[in-house]
Amino acid sequence: MAFAEITNANMFLITLLLLSLSSIPLSSSTITQDFVMCLVDNSDASFPMDSSFFTHDLNASSFKQALETSAQNLRYLMPSKPKPEFIFEPLYETHVQAAVVCAKKLRLHLRLRSGGHDYEGLSYVSEMETAFVIVDLSKLRQINVDLESNTAWVHAGASIGETLEQDGTRILYKWQQVADKLDENLFIRAIIQPASKTPKSKERTISVSYQGQFLGDAKRLLQVMQRSFPQLGLTKKDCLETSWIKSVMYIAGFPSTAPPEALLAGKSLFKNYFKAKSDYVEKPIPIEGLEGLWKKLLEEDSPLTIWNPYGGMMAKIPETETPFPHRSGTLFKIQWLTLWQDGKASEAKHMEWMRNMYSYMEKYVSKSPRSAYVNYRDLDLGMNGRGTDAREWGKKYFKGNFERLVKIKAKFDPENFFRHEQSIPTKFK
Ligand SMILES: Cc1cc2nc3c(=O)[nH]c(=O)nc-3n(C[C@H](O)[C@H](O)[C@H](O)COP(=O)(O)OP(=O)(O)OC[C@H]3O[C@@H](n4cnc5c(N)ncnc54)[C@H](O)[C@@H]3O)c2cc1C
Ligand SMILES: *[C@@H]1O[C@H](CO)[C@@H](O)[C@H](O)[C@H]1NC(C)=O
Repeated sequence: MAFAEITNANMFLITLLLLSLSSIPLSSSTITQDFVMCLVDNSDASFPMDSSFFTHDLNASSFKQALETSAQNLRYLMPSKPKPEFIFEPLYETHVQAAVVCAKKLRLHLRLRSGGHDYEGLSYVSEMETAFVIVDLSKLRQINVDLESNTAWVHAGASIGETLEQDGTRILYKWQQVADKLDENLFIRAIIQPASKTPKSKERTISVSYQGQFLGDAKRLLQVMQRSFPQLGLTKKDCLETSWIKSVMYIAGFPSTAPPEALLAGKSLFKNYFKAKSDYVEKPIPIEGLEGLWKKLLEEDSPLTIWNPYGGMMAKIPETETPFPHRSGTLFKIQWLTLWQDGKASEAKHMEWMRNMYSYMEKYVSKSPRSAYVNYRDLDLGMNGRGTDAREWGKKYFKGNFERLVKIKAKFDPENFFRHEQSIPTKFK
């Protein structure tokens, strides 16, 4: 019964498709037309033009909207950045398969976008190959939970106490020594940025906020803190007992009044011009290293650095078991960020500040390689197609696993069809 209904729905959509295909204006690029023809030949689900295809010629405003809605880094939406020939938003899984087949056949360079959070915009901008198209998966947002096997399949488009100065540097020094070794139900990260010394003054100092999550009640948390990190001075009134889902919303920055359903909107609270980098720390950064860093942070308009502890379960998995290699021996991960509002005007200044700060930190962080977190994509580390050995940047993200990843890539995608500035290459050079 259900099957018959689905078939009928598809039939109906195919009819729609044939009608709408004939409505593509002739001025619209032939690339799009060839692609659509090919999709029709390679899939039995329909392609409603008005909700799956966006080209500048067809409707500039809906194209702009489709391009920008999920793009998170405004630096990659500036007019000077290359724009796709078209954006295709598949409605069914078979659309995705057909899109890959057709892009291959028509030699179109594909960019795939799920949430659009890539730090260097790689899911919606190609600077390597300026003629490119985007397959945007935002309409594929089904979630299937199987309680029996304890698994969930999530489609790619689904979204899901402050101390000031005085003693701040010494507390942070202590945090570096305990954060990865705390009770396994406790996670405390540090968020560091310049702040006004008093609400009215223009003079700035460094603020370190500690944000934590404990799986248990406040009473037990206070005992754990008393034992392992009394320097922070946590008291009962700093704690908020809440459900797990509310704690997720708190960490994501939703106002406390927002209902959990707000997570379903899939809208990001964060859209900025920004540049990010990352580091891993294996030995606590000494006090004088921290003090030098505070000076650097105070030179910049809106820098922000977030230090996330590792340890726990992450340290128990062997480095070679999954591609992600930052395991035992890692105390914490640093995310470096600088944000600005005026687009191109001050970009060069902020990029320079970031690179200068990063070179200052070199001696305090992981070495050989100076490792990095792939989710905080950083094209300064190196790129494909520049004639250098890909291991120079690949090992930073994947350590010894990079060479195995290159072997696997060479076996399953020998033509390097799926590629971008920092994709796993088929060979090192
Ligand atoms: C505001 C913000 C907060 C963040 N917070 C965190 C955080 O707390 N922790 C963390 O680890 N990271 C965080 N990130 C980084 C984020 O996890 C990574 O950028 C991640 O790659 C985003 O996935 P996406 O689907 O949104 O990205 P996209 O930009 O859509 O895609 C990322 C890359 O994967 C490719 N791709 C996308 N979909 C597919 C697909 N279905 N098949 C094959 N390739 C595909 C894209 O082409 C691109 O190369 C954050 C990013 C932002 C902007
Ligand atoms: C173009 O797209 C916008 C936004 O989706 C829509 O409001 C408008 O009606 C469209 N215009 C045409 C001519 O289709």
